[in-house]
Amino acid sequence: MCGILGYIGKERALGTFIDGLSRLEYRGYDSCGVVGIKKGEFFLKKQPGKIHDLRKELKSFLEEKFPIGIFHTRWATHGRPSEANAHPHLDCKGQIAIVHNGIIENYLELKEALVKEGHKFVSETDTEVVVHLVEKFYKNSLKDAVCKAIKKLNGSFSLGVISLKDPTRLIAVRKGSPLIVGLGKDGNFIASDIPAILPFAKEVVYLKDEEVAVIRHNTVEIFHFKGKPVKLEIEKVNIKPQDAEKKDFEHFMLKEIHEQPEVLKKILSLYAKRNAIEFPYINLDEKYLKSLKNIFITACGSAYHAGYVAKYFLEKYCDLDVEIDTSSEFRYRELNITKNDLLLAISQSGETADTLAAIRDIKGNGVKIVGVCNVEGSTLTKESHGLIFTHAGPEIGVASTKAYTAQIMALLLLALHIGKIRNTIAEKDFKEMLEELRMIPEYQKDILTKTGEVKKIAKEFSKFGCFLFLGRGINYPSALEGALKLKEISYIPAEGYPAGEMKHGPIALIDEYRGVVCIAPKDFLYEKMISNMQEIRARKGKVLAIVNYGDSQASRLSDAVIYCPQLKNTDFSPMLVAVGLQLFAYYVAKNLGYEIDQPRNLAKSVTVE
Ligand code: AGP
Repeated sequence: MCGILGYIGKERALGTFIDGLSRLEYRGYDSCGVVGIKKGEFFLKKQPGKIHDLRKELKSFLEEKFPIGIFHTRWATHGRPSEANAHPHLDCKGQIAIVHNGIIENYLELKEALVKEGHKFVSETDTEVVVHLVEKFYKNSLKDAVCKAIKKLNGSFSLGVISLKDPTRLIAVRKGSPLIVGLGKDGNFIASDIPAILPFAKEVVYLKDEEVAVIRHNTVEIFHFKGKPVKLEIEKVNIKPQDAEKKDFEHFMLKEIHEQPEVLKKILSLYAKRNAIEFPYINLDEKYLKSLKNIFITACGSAYHAGYVAKYFLEKYCDLDVEIDTSSEFRYRELNITKNDLLLAISQSGETADTLAAIRDIKGNGVKIVGVCNVEGSTLTKESHGLIFTHAGPEIGVASTKAYTAQIMALLLLALHIGKIRNTIAEKDFKEMLEELRMIPEYQKDILTKTGEVKKIAKEFSKFGCFLFLGRGINYPSALEGALKLKEISYIPAEGYPAGEMKHGPIALIDEYRGVVCIAPKDFLYEKMISNMQEIRARKGKVLAIVNYGDSQASRLSDAVIYCPQLKNTDFSPMLVAVGLQLFAYYVAKNLGYEIDQPRNLAKSVTVE
């Protein structure tokens, strides 16, 4: 996916727009570009590479002021990163400019028809067909031309469009990819996400699907694609600009790893008041929860792993059957889901196309959908029946860390809430579990004080060419998540596996050139994990064990150890194991000299299927 920013209002310096665009860079960073209108002409610069390269290229223009402009940072879908494929794109006469986030699925047939009509294309992108369609339909209104053009499009598209023919209007379109309108005191903005406009606007309007906004310096009008005017729903921005800054940390990822104790404390304070759990927006009554038979969970990546942890908890404490699948698979399965079931859709961004598609495919059959989400106003929050916000604050690092443990905490509280209502958790156990959950932030802080040791271990293990991550029970998802963290920022092949499956194949991989991470807290499966470690050692595998303090037996079987505090209820251990494995992945990638916040080929939220 990509990041879009646009502006119209009192003149502003080009450098401020580039600053805003850089706060969207986590959405895509293989190329970027800017275009402004000044004295009746476009000032346009675009190129492959990062935004800081573009800033350098434009250093003598950063103070140039523009009353209107659109800006873009790209994650390539069609066409490699290049100047021609970077956005903004222009029409044949160079009088209309467009930026786009999404995918035009029928662009090839549209392109063929436009070429036959004489339009000249200069890029390989799907986006370029849109600006030529606007050119084709332009008579005397940019809005009308855009509205005619988008009727031809299939797929997902959020657009920003400006034109020399009408420099008093910025047109914004939203279908399937997020776009907000930021209301500033001396001008108005459009952006793919809130961080871009944090310093400029305190009020926003979240465009809904199939809406067009006509934005002038002092007015915003919104219409449905069918033409009907839409009432503006103005919302306050409740994120502070500093929430989206790195502060003293070298990387957003490291900052966000260290923010986890505060995030979990906030979740507990919001949802677990004294000895009762309340979710203000869940929109599920007790009668429904008591009659519930099945829960289905759909999510992607780290959110999927958090859901997998919740699966174990919901089955064990709520007397429920829980089915989980990645959203890209879930949506195509022939699942027997009825209106008596609950679907949990977990997504940090609330914009992941696969997860949105999964809930849209199933909505018709009456199942209640609860979105577990970190971004207020995101699409998932608009399309769910009920909501649980994870309140992790902006997560800028592409590799999810604080959002992951926040999802686990929120989901474990949900399980306690459901278990209490269904009387499957005794009052005494409920109180004890809640009491221990309140200790988790402190235990996480304890692990964070071991950063120096993890750094040393990471340096030693950076030499391995591939990794196996092994866990059992509720820490099998921890193994999946640890492997994902490592591979996505260090590019080292890493596979999470249920430890019991090792002897059914993966053990063939074990030798002195492989790293094997064994997650072995003192739970009921501990002895089996010890056997796994012995089998690995017998084959010269190099073991990094994640174990409890004082575990000398596991330490003797390991080449390195990351310790976690012992828990009374080991079902909570994934929130501790995660911190150790996040730090491990971070320092391996740092040791290898990789760009950690924006790993190659990735984007923070995948808004294309
Ligand atoms: C996690 O580190 C990855 N960046 C990725 O797997 C992510 O969890 C996944 O794309 C889901 O994103 P979402 O939570 O915003 O839906």
